[in-house]
Amino acid sequence: MFTFAPKINCRMKYCFSLLVVFILMQPAFSQTPQLGKNSIKEVIAAMTLEEKAKLLVGNGFSMPGMNPPGGPVIGQTKDKVPGAAGTTFAIPGLGIPSIVVSDGPAGVRIDPFRDGDSSRSYYATAWPVGTLLASSWDTALVKKVGIAFGSEVRDYGIDILLAPALNIHRNPLGGRNFEYYSEDPVVAGYIAAAIVNGIESNGVGTSIKHFAANNQETNRNTVNTILSERALREIYLKGFEIAVKQSQPWTVMSSYNYVNGTYTSESYDLLTTILRKEWGFKGFVMTDWFGGKDPVAQMKAGNNLLMPGTAQQSKAIIDAVNNGALDMKVLDENVAGMLNIILESLSYKGYKYSDKPDLQKNAAISGVAATEGMVLLKNESNTLPLKNVKKVALFGNTSYDIIAGGTGSGDVNKAYTVSLLQGLANAGYTADADLTSTYTVYLKEERIKHPKKGFFQEFMNPTPPVAEFFAPGDLITQKAAENDIAIITIGRNAGEGRDRKVENDFNLSDTEKTLIKNVVDAFHAKNKKVVIVLNIGGVIETADWKAMPDAILLAWQPGMEAGNAIADILSGKVNPSGKLATTFPVVYNDVPSAKDFPGKEFPEKATTGMFGMKAVPAEVTYEEGIYVGYRYYNSFNVKPSYEFGYGLSYTTFNYSGLKLSKASFNGKITATVTVTNTGSVTGKEVVQLYVSAPAKKLDKPAEELKGFAKTGLLEPGKSQTLTFTLNAADLASFDTPTTSWMAEAGTYTVKAGASSTNIKQTATFNLAKDIITEKDNKVLVPQAGINEMKH
Ligand code: BGC
Repeated sequence: MFTFAPKINCRMKYCFSLLVVFILMQPAFSQTPQLGKNSIKEVIAAMTLEEKAKLLVGNGFSMPGMNPPGGPVIGQTKDKVPGAAGTTFAIPGLGIPSIVVSDGPAGVRIDPFRDGDSSRSYYATAWPVGTLLASSWDTALVKKVGIAFGSEVRDYGIDILLAPALNIHRNPLGGRNFEYYSEDPVVAGYIAAAIVNGIESNGVGTSIKHFAANNQETNRNTVNTILSERALREIYLKGFEIAVKQSQPWTVMSSYNYVNGTYTSESYDLLTTILRKEWGFKGFVMTDWFGGKDPVAQMKAGNNLLMPGTAQQSKAIIDAVNNGALDMKVLDENVAGMLNIILESLSYKGYKYSDKPDLQKNAAISGVAATEGMVLLKNESNTLPLKNVKKVALFGNTSYDIIAGGTGSGDVNKAYTVSLLQGLANAGYTADADLTSTYTVYLKEERIKHPKKGFFQEFMNPTPPVAEFFAPGDLITQKAAENDIAIITIGRNAGEGRDRKVENDFNLSDTEKTLIKNVVDAFHAKNKKVVIVLNIGGVIETADWKAMPDAILLAWQPGMEAGNAIADILSGKVNPSGKLATTFPVVYNDVPSAKDFPGKEFPEKATTGMFGMKAVPAEVTYEEGIYVGYRYYNSFNVKPSYEFGYGLSYTTFNYSGLKLSKASFNGKITATVTVTNTGSVTGKEVVQLYVSAPAKKLDKPAEELKGFAKTGLLEPGKSQTLTFTLNAADLASFDTPTTSWMAEAGTYTVKAGASSTNIKQTATFNLAKDIITEKDNKVLVPQAGINEMKH
């Protein structure tokens, strides 16, 4: 016993001390804060500087076909959703998952095939491009698209969709205009809010982009956009403001450009003062991919997340904190902004995504949406819907190889695209077999001659589109004898990285013009009609040739169901109800920004930029100020080819009884107007509410859009009364000297229009005294005076 006792004592002592250590350690383990269980403050307090600097910088990314220049790109996105644009850093010990972000505005952009998985594909729905969706002027429809779109984001395990994109169509040559909505911020803002609300209803996030004044692709990483405070606030920020206030998106993506001398991603004034303090944005801001220059300035500006993320950026942040150049508080705020959103994410919630979105159901929604945003530009003698037509002579490359959407990150890996040829066949029409084989062989041979390269090589140096097939005159004459009608498709494509050109892009090529003329002459000689279908993502010249064909349908880039949707309009299955959300000018030089697009370059200051590309400093001055689109054409009496808001229907509508709730403004006024279908076909009408304001102190455009609505399907003879509300803020303009929004006393005219120039009903009210509706901060002031256009 004696000998045994010390042994026991010894063992007990040992066990006891182990127990003490264990007990002492317990609180430490259980106290490691966990996201969601502990407060965000506690989680942040438990993070090391390195962890913070990694969370605030993405995991890097790999681009198919890209040979990374070494160094800057860390990690890749292959781990969770192959092909997604980026991921964030996970800190498992604190319960912080990695979240996945993916493009883009026209559909989920991921790899359709996965390494080691030959059993299936991962296609996504290609929705109609942004410009088409906006041309529907139908926020309910766009929300519905958003709900379906967001289901794919969710089902593919993506946390945040890098969309919508809502920059203003400042100039028709803008390479990314197809992704964007409109030349008008009210349309852009409400359409964006609708799609955000739809997408986010699936428990996933969005990133409204590119914030802000990013209206060109030429020198997109180096261009300094110089513009007045007023143009910035009223035109280029307004849509974002509406979207933030109406939908509170999870994130905002800052843009590549500078605004008045500062990179947007490095601008505290833009990202904190305006976005958060003035507008109340609650989410986080991420950069565009490799956007901006100075990670420390980006942190200080409130640009929470640097994407796709490089090791150098994390290091710069760590060094800056260590040497006192960056306050840890700034990092903590940026981390908090991200954690608040990560907490909402599907990755955080451990959502078991199916990888099986309902692509069939969504394709049908995409097709319906496509028909809703197509715009009937011309319909002489009721050429459309097609009557007594069986045999169709189908001209134009894109009749056979239709363009579903634009290029770059706005492109979508879709399972198929229905060509117009196929769509017409599905609708019961017979396309001329001879033409079909001629075009098909031509396109095949051309594609073999100019094969497409990898994504990155295409981005750097895109393969030009196949030149329009030159249809010989005798072939056309023969086809006019053999077919009931001719359809000519004119196609255009563009995308990020470059802007469009005037010649052979905005303007039709000589081959296209000859094709239209020869086909029209030959078919008209046989008393047969010619329809032109525009398969384009941005505005083109139409004035020069529009008199020739009998009908013109602007089909935009309608997504994967393209051919079916066009056929539905041509056949009359769907009555067109889209209207232009962007003006079609007569000639390029009529565009108010024509002389300031894409601005000046300073090649002597060129450096080597991203991926070894030449970075040429540049600047663009928005001398047209607020006179963008119809604000210019209407105020300066420049007649466009097709005005903002224009679009025909197979029926006619009458507007009546525009009534205002008051004769004198007192905080709010409602306007009601009745629309009646006076034709013989069931249809919908887009009603636009414009306001003309007094302009004693402030320069004002002739009129500005303040509201819009689309009727339901109205049967012939049926009416619907639409109601619009005008608040004081809707009457106000930005008064630069006082940095406030002011509505001037005087008489206001409310105009209910079928377009911006086709005003159907007017009514007036009076505002007794000037009202200051909002006082803002004096920020983002241009460094030098701008010789701005005045009305
Ligand atoms: C584009 C963004 C896109 C990002 C990620 C950038 O080049 O400008 O719109 O979301 O890439 O792919």
